Amino acid sequence: METKTPQIYDKIREQFDTGPYPRIPIETSPKEQIINLYYHNLVTAYYRRNKQVISTQGRIILDAGCGSGFTTLTLAEANPGAKIVGIDLSSKSLELAQKRLEYHGFDNVEFHVLSLEDLPKLEIKFDYINCDEVLYLLPDPVAGLKAMKAVLKPAGIIRANLHSSLQRVFYFRAQLIFKMMGLMDENPGEIEVDIVREIFKSLKDGVQLKQKTWNSEKENDDQYFMMNYLFQGDKGYTIPEMFAAIADANLEFISMTQLKQWDLMSLFKDPKDIPTFLAYSLPEISIEDKLNLFELFNPKNRLLDFWCGNKEENQTIKPPQEWTIDDWKKVKIHLHPQMKASVVVEELFECINQYLYFPIDKHLPLTQEQILIKNNVAACLYPPLLESPKPIDFLAKRWQRLYPENPITGEATTEEQAFKIIRDLAIGREAFGEILLEL
Ligand SMILES: C[S@@+](CC[C@H](N)C(=O)[O-])C[C@H]1O[C@@H](n2cnc3c(N)ncnc32)[C@H](O)[C@@H]1O
Repeated sequence: METKTPQIYDKIREQFDTGPYPRIPIETSPKEQIINLYYHNLVTAYYRRNKQVISTQGRIILDAGCGSGFTTLTLAEANPGAKIVGIDLSSKSLELAQKRLEYHGFDNVEFHVLSLEDLPKLEIKFDYINCDEVLYLLPDPVAGLKAMKAVLKPAGIIRANLHSSLQRVFYFRAQLIFKMMGLMDENPGEIEVDIVREIFKSLKDGVQLKQKTWNSEKENDDQYFMMNYLFQGDKGYTIPEMFAAIADANLEFISMTQLKQWDLMSLFKDPKDIPTFLAYSLPEISIEDKLNLFELFNPKNRLLDFWCGNKEENQTIKPPQEWTIDDWKKVKIHLHPQMKASVVVEELFECINQYLYFPIDKHLPLTQEQILIKNNVAACLYPPLLESPKPIDFLAKRWQRLYPENPITGEATTEEQAFKIIRDLAIGREAFGEILLEL
């Protein structure tokens, strides 16, 4: 393998040959981890960018730096009919990944021992590239992004992430200490982990570094030590650095993957009553500035986790709030495919049958808040959408049939009222993420 900085690559390869990541038993299935599947489903990313619902059938997906393959398996489960390719520097990790995918019955999969920078050698173009927990290890993340761009189809999407320098500042400080002590000169192993453990245990609890990084529940978890205190090649980035890297690779930022975790307004006691200075300036500032402000106020996210893609002509997509009645008549209302998982459907039907609220946040926790869907809403929307996407008229008529009159006045539900109810519900649910609206 040709690389410009073989020393650090050798260290990284050795680290992951000795301890492939993640250490998840081969039998563990992500089938019931709906939120995990949701974010690894190409439909989610593609909809976020284009407001269109695509089929995963026949798509080609790359897991770049796939490690022991749990995310590769998640990608395979989340994207039925897609071909999955995994690459990694560490052949030991790939052996595990290969076994994992075989164990779970996936055969449309291939693995290659390959460095990210050498991706073009594969001569395959991808619809989606997942690069999870890898980019921050590269000497130059821009080179990694460029290599992925070189094998990305024109409308393809890359999901990647960088460590946050602000959130992780204390771990970087710990790494400096253990570098000074020579524990990271060679590939750290059990001996080095034991030394780190002993040092932390010997420190007073009030010592800042211990307060900020030590987790007694992880005291015996060697991988936690390796991936935090002794992580070879680990580096941190800020939001402006992340945006600069994306631009330098001639790519375009699409969005943070977990939008709700980056909601600036969620930091205020009362988002409707923020200081006037902010109320005037915030709506005007760029997405980059909003994310940067969020991080400066509250660096709680370990990963700067984002989707990006090739630059596109500015196609302005009108938000559903601005659609006219005629627009709405053309809209196809979809249920996100991950809502069709049997564990979700079983609970949904149970709630509908028993006239209970449906706790959607239990399956699709896209916000920190508890979200209970009213029984009448769940009963009207979900059963037909589980079968196929529907036009608004179909759902409005169903609403009229199910709830023909106002329970207080006894007046008949009009077509217009039902249409408006479904439209408002669709807008609200779309913002949450389980309903997709295709115009
Ligand atoms: C922290 S693990 C992440 C594994 C997997 N993506 C996940 O999130 O579960 C990082 C992986 O990236 C691989 N890696 C690091 N640098 C790489 C490079 N330049 N090219 C290919 N793989 C690399 C390592 O060997 C390791 O398996």
